[in-house]
Amino acid sequence: MCSSGAEANENALKLASFHTGKSRVIAFENAFHGRTSAAVAATDNINIQAPLNNQQQVDFIPFNDVDALEKELAKGDVCAVIFEAIQGVGGLDEPSAAFVAQMETLCETHQTCLIADEVQSGFGRSGDFFAFQKYNINPHVISIAKGMGNGFPVGGILVNPVIKAKYGLLGTTFGGNHLACSASLAVLQVLEKEKLYHHAKAMGEYFVERAKELPFVKTIKGRGLMLGLEFEKEVGALRKELIFKHRIFTGGSSNKNLIRILPPLNVKQKHLDQLFTALNACHQ
Ligand SMILES: Cc1ncc(COP(=O)(O)O)c(C=O)c1O
Repeated sequence: MCSSGAEANENALKLASFHTGKSRVIAFENAFHGRTSAAVAATDNINIQAPLNNQQQVDFIPFNDVDALEKELAKGDVCAVIFEAIQGVGGLDEPSAAFVAQMETLCETHQTCLIADEVQSGFGRSGDFFAFQKYNINPHVISIAKGMGNGFPVGGILVNPVIKAKYGLLGTTFGGNHLACSASLAVLQVLEKEKLYHHAKAMGEYFVERAKELPFVKTIKGRGLMLGLEFEKEVGALRKELIFKHRIFTGGSSNKNLIRILPPLNVKQKHLDQLFTALNACHQ
């Protein structure tokens, strides 16, 4: 256990490197995995990489390009493929089911660890507990944070038993502290008691149906309560109007035409309706 998403990914990547004895990482175009050492090197944004971070060996390939993945893994030096089942900061893109299945097989064939970064999409947000569960895969490492503590700083990795635990490989002062563990256990209890991931799925379906009615929306992306609306033009002004006039806080992404919508998992239909009323008003 650790205290943030970036730290979770550092541990995931480090463990993959310990386990395989290799050091190169394959990540995907538009990926976001955090702002520290190996995590930021695996993030597809040169603006947040300092020269110091260039020492990591990371290559980016597009989602769904099996040939590119196979070519990279065949070089034999890749310790990990790290992916988001639904990209967050990148703009809500998802790999195809066929690609995810092939990615798992190729990782097995080439002794490479598959890391599912569930920092943003995990803990019920996608309508499943983890977003990768839509596909029938078994990653070597799952990284978790954000919703894990519902606001309290806590993160961690779940490690597949094929990777043998060894004392002292990973560690940090605040990892597994009592308060963080209590917060995380409370989150799990509430998720289960209030069936919040079923609720997230139902609200996501409602959102998509309502969004289809909006003529100015080009594409609806994501699932559960990890959603995006893509417009024909940049959304900077629209997001400002939503927050200052309608008090609705939305997220941006590397896709400048997309607003990211990640409401609390207990959001009600009436709150989503408020967003649609506001979006219509902004387009009058
Ligand atoms: C998919 C993903 N991974 C990792 C991180 C980094 O998490 P943190 O900001 O807690 O370091 C984020 C943060 O937005 C994220 O969305």
